[in-house]
Amino acid sequence: MALNALGRHVVLVGFMGSGKTSLGRQLGDRLDRSFLDLDAAIEERAGKSIPELFAERGEDEFRRIEEHAVRVALAAPDPSVIALGGGAVTSEETRRRIADHFVVLCEVDVDLAWRRALGTDRPLARDEQEFQRLYEARGPLYRQVADAVANDPDAAALAAAGITWERGGLDRLGELVPGDGPTALVADANVMGIYGARAQEALGPRLQTTHELPAGEGAKETGVVARLWSELRLDRAGTVVALGGGCTTDVGGFAAATYLRGVPWVAVPTTLVG
Ligand code: S3P
Repeated sequence: MALNALGRHVVLVGFMGSGKTSLGRQLGDRLDRSFLDLDAAIEERAGKSIPELFAERGEDEFRRIEEHAVRVALAAPDPSVIALGGGAVTSEETRRRIADHFVVLCEVDVDLAWRRALGTDRPLARDEQEFQRLYEARGPLYRQVADAVANDPDAAALAAAGITWERGGLDRLGELVPGDGPTALVADANVMGIYGARAQEALGPRLQTTHELPAGEGAKETGVVARLWSELRLDRAGTVVALGGGCTTDVGGFAAATYLRGVPWVAVPTTLVG
């Protein structure tokens, strides 16, 4: 399991028709990494298409070729984005190898997957019942290896950076802020007036102190950060919760990163910039 993709390959897994290849290409662009489609790499090396390989050598032999291709792809020194074929996770060796990297699951429901697979030459998408059976059987394997679930490049890029988020979490902050240690709530005067009470209530007994910042760019001053350093009472089991827009999340995050050689912090953004 990996917390982010720093220094690791991003490996995309998911059922046939989940969109791994197009997601992988877009994610490669976002992260400025090269993108490898494993099926395409197999076809190029073999000089044959996947349906030809299945027909001539059978599925077992295809899986051995696929395992080898995963090994080669993961051995590349520069972190890249790699889309695996839908069945690659059925190999225990592959599951073990990709565990050292950042694995993103691309989800799809079975009806959409079947509609997308129809009319393609995928050897394992010829019979709908068999297709559904594979879908059910592989679901647990995908979830077992995934570090994150994402179906669009923005979500995948955030996940690769180790950023997780949840919409509408304000009233569940007490359980969403990782750990069970104390928290310090940081917000500007405007946001405190709008959401402060709800955030305080949600943090419940975990709330240790509340800190109000000046609204807007004026918060980004060393004097404001110095005041936060002196007001915070957290030990290293504590978490700073920065509630607000970009200025608050900048200042809250900076203060947390420089307090006691760094304590965890959580952004609760109320704006896109935040
Ligand atoms: C397979 C999926 C295919 C390809 C091969 C086998 C599978 O890749 O590797 O046809 O077993 O699910 P896509 O997931 O890219 O379609």
